[in-house]
Amino acid sequence: MSVGTNTPTAIEIFAGGGGLAVGLRDAGFRTVAAVEVEPSAVATFKANHPEVRVFQQDVRTIDGAQLLGLAGGALDVLAACPPCQGFSSLTSKWRKADPRNELVLEVARLAEEMRPRAIMVENVPGLVDKGKILFDELVRRLRDLGYRCTWSVLQVADYGVPQRRRRLVLLAGLGFDISMPAPTHSRTGKSGLPVWRTVREALAGINRPAVTFSEAKALGGPIAVDWHVTRSLSPANLERLRHAKPGAVWKTMPEEVRPPCHRGGYDGFTNVYGRMSWDEPSVTITAGCTTLSKGRFGHPEEDRTISLREAALLQTFPPDYYFDTSIVEHACQIVGNALPCAFAEIVARQVIEQLRAVA
Ligand SMILES: C[S@@+](CC[C@H](N)C(=O)[O-])C[C@H]1O[C@@H](n2cnc3c(N)ncnc32)[C@H](O)[C@@H]1O
Repeated sequence: MSVGTNTPTAIEIFAGGGGLAVGLRDAGFRTVAAVEVEPSAVATFKANHPEVRVFQQDVRTIDGAQLLGLAGGALDVLAACPPCQGFSSLTSKWRKADPRNELVLEVARLAEEMRPRAIMVENVPGLVDKGKILFDELVRRLRDLGYRCTWSVLQVADYGVPQRRRRLVLLAGLGFDISMPAPTHSRTGKSGLPVWRTVREALAGINRPAVTFSEAKALGGPIAVDWHVTRSLSPANLERLRHAKPGAVWKTMPEEVRPPCHRGGYDGFTNVYGRMSWDEPSVTITAGCTTLSKGRFGHPEEDRTISLREAALLQTFPPDYYFDTSIVEHACQIVGNALPCAFAEIVARQVIEQLRAVA
């Protein structure tokens, strides 16, 4: 373990508002530094992780030697969730020219400069498919340094997150293998594991009414109402939601209330303009999580979308997590971009176990 302490150290790049950081902390890591460029994500990260030194800057300008100094010259894990918009299946086609794609290789650069004992990377499954050229380069550079790399696409619902979200996880140990964590839950419960957690379980603790963004403003702003805030729905979307059946896709809606572009033979995204079901995990929470046209983000029974706070609970953020912004788009980005905290904790525990096994 790291110099002078039994607590393993972590450095996180692309740290967002701190979803992965919660998981690292709860697993037992001491995060000594984090790098993030977006101001409201940095403010949120700092508010919830005051013990971490946060660098608000482009990761490409960060010097590995400086970060390594904060870890006392020896680092246990480098953790990273590089931006994934360029590889996401939720974008209509892979934007090859998206400059954010190249950021994945910052993991290799900082591994070269810091030689952490382990590396943990999370991304959308598309990185091994549409982003194969970059992924292969990342793995090649890590292998050249002596890392043994394992990767797999995992379903976070199999790890106790009340949400369907498939994520690519890459784990690498300097001279040792790190296997993927075993699932803790299953869809049917057949394997003897508890069944997937549901929207009902995740939202059970919220007993106060959600307010719209304009109502929140009159009450002192979204922070004053703990971000239990939704966007106002247009009359047309309200009508669509009234017809939406929990868990069903928009195709079950009468033709006349569908958006004009979804009538007739339209066969595009099926997961929009719908409601969640109480007794299933939610759909993947994205930055569009409070917008009805961007996913099945309708509340299971109320005529509104889920609130930002409810989205955060579905991402397994702690119930009192503080979102240090008053701008709805920023709050949605922070929540939708996060690695679900409970999933991050399980993966981080797996890394700690392997670090201890080879110490
Ligand atoms: C997938 S999100 C990270 C989520 C975070 N790990 C969490 O669990 O909450 C990617 C983050 O990378 C940040 N980012 C994008 N480009 C960056 C850059 N050049 N330097 C530093 N951060 C960057 C984005 O602002 C975003 O917050």
